Amino acid sequence: MRNSMTASSGRAARQVKHPKLPSLEIEFSSREFLNHKSRLGDYLRRFGLEGDAAFRILAYHYAISHMERSAGVPVSLREKWKLEYRKIENDERVIQFLNELVVNDPKGTALPEWYQFLVGRRFREGSGKFFTPKPIAHVMAQLLPRIKNPIIMDPTAGGGTFLMEASTIWNDSGCTLIANEVEPSLIELAMLTLELGTSPRHVKHYLCANIFDTPAELTAWHGRVDYILANPPFSLRIDNEQFDSRLFREGYRSSDALFIDTALNLLRPGGRLICLLPHSIIANSEFAMLRSTVEELWNVLAIICLPEGVFQLNAGTTTRADIVVLEKRLASRDRANTRIVLASVPSVGIRLNNLAKDTRENELETLLISDEVRKALGI
Ligand SMILES: C[S@@+](CC[C@H](N)C(=O)[O-])C[C@H]1O[C@@H](n2cnc3c(N)ncnc32)[C@H](O)[C@@H]1O
Repeated sequence: MRNSMTASSGRAARQVKHPKLPSLEIEFSSREFLNHKSRLGDYLRRFGLEGDAAFRILAYHYAISHMERSAGVPVSLREKWKLEYRKIENDERVIQFLNELVVNDPKGTALPEWYQFLVGRRFREGSGKFFTPKPIAHVMAQLLPRIKNPIIMDPTAGGGTFLMEASTIWNDSGCTLIANEVEPSLIELAMLTLELGTSPRHVKHYLCANIFDTPAELTAWHGRVDYILANPPFSLRIDNEQFDSRLFREGYRSSDALFIDTALNLLRPGGRLICLLPHSIIANSEFAMLRSTVEELWNVLAIICLPEGVFQLNAGTTTRADIVVLEKRLASRDRANTRIVLASVPSVGIRLNNLAKDTRENELETLLISDEVRKALGI
């Protein structure tokens, strides 16, 4: 999928027919948002609309309310969303409520949260589907050196959180953003959020492929990508014998190992991978050979251990994760003489469990202002 198609404009004119209502000035503070979520959920359930169908209605309303910004969303996708929207379009109360939600969110900032709420359980089941908390994604994007016109990819993009963060860094200049995601409804979400929320100067590509099948859409980018930002599915068993992966051949048949080799293929020499990986890969003895292979093929620039609970509240998992910064070696003998940033942070700007206070402490931000860290990472 590419964002080369144009939008239809019929619905914008039709929307003006609805009476102009005073804005509720919705701010997406958590209590208000919770209230809005349950109200919209209730409204749509009365029409028998739940899950993906409910999300499509909201997505369509965002698209037609912000026509100019959403022009890159393909007509075929709008038409699909519209099929559901037709079921509610004559109900003034629902339309009024949707207007109130959408008017104050022209950049679609709340869309990933809406998706998580409306698509709910199916979203989390199975293959490690949840969104990276924004403060973590923000800091990871800040670890990218500022080069001209970079190609930045997230091969497991979810709703596009990382690419949104990267795009704010290159806001005034050019960059290419590539979102790939195996789940069709998620790549559609990424498409809408990135079209609404990023500069029209940024070139965007949307792919819907399984990274472990090495599809042609992805291999076309091999050796071309400057930066990969990602939070891949953790520790899933993968049995694809066709996959040409050094780590796989060494017996590491997990999504983590295959992801590292996928990133190696996609990056140009000197390109960087900034991703979250399970802490076990960094710490456990069973991954010793994996680590030495990684050190042979990559320059390890940073390992930042995150506290327990970073995915507790949004994904219900206690799995520990680390931020890993790797640079693809220019040549196999090139051993960089760099110092590795090794850090362990106690806070990341989000609550780590239900008992924690709503804290804004974020030690990751402290790392970003350290001269030593900035020098080591070239940022
Ligand atoms: C932990 S989520 C992270 C999503 C997003 N990058 C973020 O940080 O918010 C991992 C994502 O990988 C996707 N995924 C899982 N297996 C995949 C595969 N084989 N190919 C591409 N994407 C995959 C899931 O659908 C999910 O959206």
